[in-house]
Amino acid sequence: MDNIKSNHSFWNNNERWIEDGEEWSGQFGTTDNLWNSLLHPRIGGFLKGDVLELACGRGRITRKLLEYNLNSLDIQDLSSNCINRCREKFGNSINNYVVGNGSSLEEFESESKDFILSFDSFVHINEEVIDSYLNEIYRVLKPGGYCWLHHAHLSGGSVDNFNNWAGRSNFDIWKFRTLANKYNFNLISQELINWKDSNPEWGNNPDWLSDGLSLIHKTKYINC
Ligand SMILES: C[S@@+](CC[C@H](N)C(=O)[O-])C[C@H]1O[C@@H](n2cnc3c(N)ncnc32)[C@H](O)[C@@H]1O
Repeated sequence: MDNIKSNHSFWNNNERWIEDGEEWSGQFGTTDNLWNSLLHPRIGGFLKGDVLELACGRGRITRKLLEYNLNSLDIQDLSSNCINRCREKFGNSINNYVVGNGSSLEEFESESKDFILSFDSFVHINEEVIDSYLNEIYRVLKPGGYCWLHHAHLSGGSVDNFNNWAGRSNFDIWKFRTLANKYNFNLISQELINWKDSNPEWGNNPDWLSDGLSLIHKTKYINC
């Protein structure tokens, strides 16, 4: 899939990580501010049990997840460069480090995770790949588990996400809703956040640029 290849060539490259990933927190000042203002209020209540962070990059968010009393934290990324760097930073604190193929969770057993999350990564991933991941996320979540994803909310852009503002893919909250239904998730909430990425490579984003935050739940019982 072209989207996986282009994400791999973009991110598996030291030049993208000039401050080891902390540069992506520019809009918030620091990663701790990002955590306290945006992430903790939304996902703090799910940080227990067995957790998987998808597309972890160099572990900007992983570091914060490790502050919680989790039973286990696994991380996966498409980029071996990123996973190697996370291994250097976090050592034995992480249960499993996985370099994935970009669309599946084949390293993980079915019904093994309480919570799966990804921040600032699915915004670059297209519909076909998100479709494949949601199928896998449904398999890997325990019944009763939750998943929270930060994804793009853009229409009419280029098929190549790296030609769009801030590398956003042509994906939106309505497409997410359709895929969530396809895989029998319970869609708990969706919201839009304004995005002002300060990375000079992508310039000053327009005021209209929004991203989606979607929370889904794998129900414990399917009604017959
Ligand atoms: C902007 S970085 C964000 C990293 C991290 N989530 C953070 O917030 O610092 C985007 C990450 O998404 C990863 N990525 C992109 N496409 C992916 C895919 N299809 N599967 C897994 N990881 C992917 C990249 O390798 C990169 O590490």
